[in-house]
Amino acid sequence: MCGIVGYIGKPESPSDKARDVVLEGLARLEYRGYDSAGIAVAGSQPLAWLKREGRLDNLKAAIEAEPLPPASAAIGHTRWATHGAPSDTNSHPHISHDERVAVVHNGIIENHAALAAELAERGIERVSETDTEIAAHLLAIELEKGADLLDAMRTIAGKLEGSFALVALDSQHPERLVAARRNSPLVVGLGEGENYLGSDVAAFVGETKRALELGQDTIVEVTADSVNVIDFDGNPTQAKEFSVDWDLSAVAKGGYETFMDKEIHEQPMAVRETLRARTTEQGNLQLDELRIPESILRSIDKIIVVACGTAAYAGHVAKYAIEHWCRIPVEIELAHEFRYRDPVVNEKTLVVAISQSGETMDTLMAIRHAREQGSKVLAIVNTQGSTIARESDAVLYTHAGPEIAVASTKAFISQIAAAYLLGLYLAELRGNKYVDEIAGYLDELGKMPGRIEQVLEQEEQIRELARSMADIDSVIFLGRHVGYPVALEGALKLKELAYVHAEGFAAGELKHGPIALIEEDLPVFVIVPTPRRPLLHAKVISNLQEVRSRGAKLIVIAEEGDEDVLKYADPSQVFWAPRTTPTLMMPLVTVIPLQIFACEVAKAKGYDVDKPRNLAKSVTVE
Ligand code: G6P
Repeated sequence: MCGIVGYIGKPESPSDKARDVVLEGLARLEYRGYDSAGIAVAGSQPLAWLKREGRLDNLKAAIEAEPLPPASAAIGHTRWATHGAPSDTNSHPHISHDERVAVVHNGIIENHAALAAELAERGIERVSETDTEIAAHLLAIELEKGADLLDAMRTIAGKLEGSFALVALDSQHPERLVAARRNSPLVVGLGEGENYLGSDVAAFVGETKRALELGQDTIVEVTADSVNVIDFDGNPTQAKEFSVDWDLSAVAKGGYETFMDKEIHEQPMAVRETLRARTTEQGNLQLDELRIPESILRSIDKIIVVACGTAAYAGHVAKYAIEHWCRIPVEIELAHEFRYRDPVVNEKTLVVAISQSGETMDTLMAIRHAREQGSKVLAIVNTQGSTIARESDAVLYTHAGPEIAVASTKAFISQIAAAYLLGLYLAELRGNKYVDEIAGYLDELGKMPGRIEQVLEQEEQIRELARSMADIDSVIFLGRHVGYPVALEGALKLKELAYVHAEGFAAGELKHGPIALIEEDLPVFVIVPTPRRPLLHAKVISNLQEVRSRGAKLIVIAEEGDEDVLKYADPSQVFWAPRTTPTLMMPLVTVIPLQIFACEVAKAKGYDVDKPRNLAKSVTVE
């Protein structure tokens, strides 16, 4: 959702750099999802700002037509509408009634209506429909009373309810930016004689690799040479410095037509990197980052995975493996449902939060609830410095690199790999598996990047099929065992990217209802288990038969050499998973054709696969 960039340089040398850094940062944050963009700059001249509905290009065109003055400070924003429709007026930055202060905001100020009423009594009316505008006026009132921007921010932070990452610029003091954060993400980038703010590190990754994590309920004052962090009570607090391991090339398309294409192809790397450095030279598992005491990990009697969207399907896959390896019951729960249903969690429960962004508000609220109940929380997260990573007891980073396309691909694969490492670690620790068995599983995991590459070789055939099916309006996905969450993920990808109505079902459930949907020419994807699991395999082959006999169009993902599927499906509509892939590892390969298919149907329909309509990459509101 909303993206924030801030730049602060030396006030004595205003230039176009402030504007350029912010515009570049906004371009790199486009992936979060947005519907309007804006910028405000200040320096030797009065505050200047421009904002436009639609793509960043609209804002850039407006700047061409109406250049911004040289500046030492700039703040920018990509907005994903919550309060008020997308429009120039509702775009950020919002400007105070006296045109002294500009603010950008990510989050929701829940008591905005009450605060707006108070402002109206003072004769200050909102010009936009946003909650954010209130903050600009409140800050200006404090400045007018003689406070500086830091004190003003501290005063208003105490009045705001809800979630906010709020960055403010006082045009009378363009030598500093002040920001406050509660629940919404914000990081500081450390430069030489200049500093940055961003809703995530992608905002400034082109400028610096040094960054600071900001804790909950903190206020930060940033000048060209200093960073001062305090809590809402005004006490100095420490912010942890970290080094950003993403580089600029990782946030560029690198020759691919879209980020989605690039990220689909980066999946072997994503698994390789996630596994790397987690085994010793002797092949033993080593998860140094698991700072939860071993005695606690030995005593847990239940694991609950909380996550949303694709990350939840990765958790669903992990359930099969962790239960099988560790004999611990694993529940998978959508984070937004978990929090509000009084779940049974206690100090014997390990809550595993899975999130690419580490900022999904639903997931964040779920882990806070779990920790309040005494559970330990382990996060599987891709983004360094993110809130979920910071607020968990331990973090297992997926090293997939930045995922820019809104719909998740490589993060999914690396989340499964990380969860498997966790499962194997627990199995070893709790004595469920012998060391050599663990080594065997690790060896198989290590082969997965190569197996993913083999599936990627079928890309053109999958794309061709997708183009020939671009007019589909309803699709069913079926899978059994670990193929079931893959079916759910395949359906989600098609909904997200191609806006096609798609449903995933457990194949065994077909006869209990969904079979009524099967009709002539309906596309039905079936993920067939390996013939090496005859019981599972036979049942899904029966499903193929049932679907085929009703005239549906079958598209099958099966293990290489599985002759049975060819009795029901046209060979041009069968995609192969490498032979001998263990059942539990199958999702890492069987999902690939489904991702490519959805991507290509969307392209054939002329849609932007990196930025599907209505979706945000990082959903920072509940
Ligand atoms: C959004 C995205 C999905 C993603 C989900 C969870 O809905 O559009 O692609 O799977 O959030 O995101 P997370 O960052 O927590 O993995």
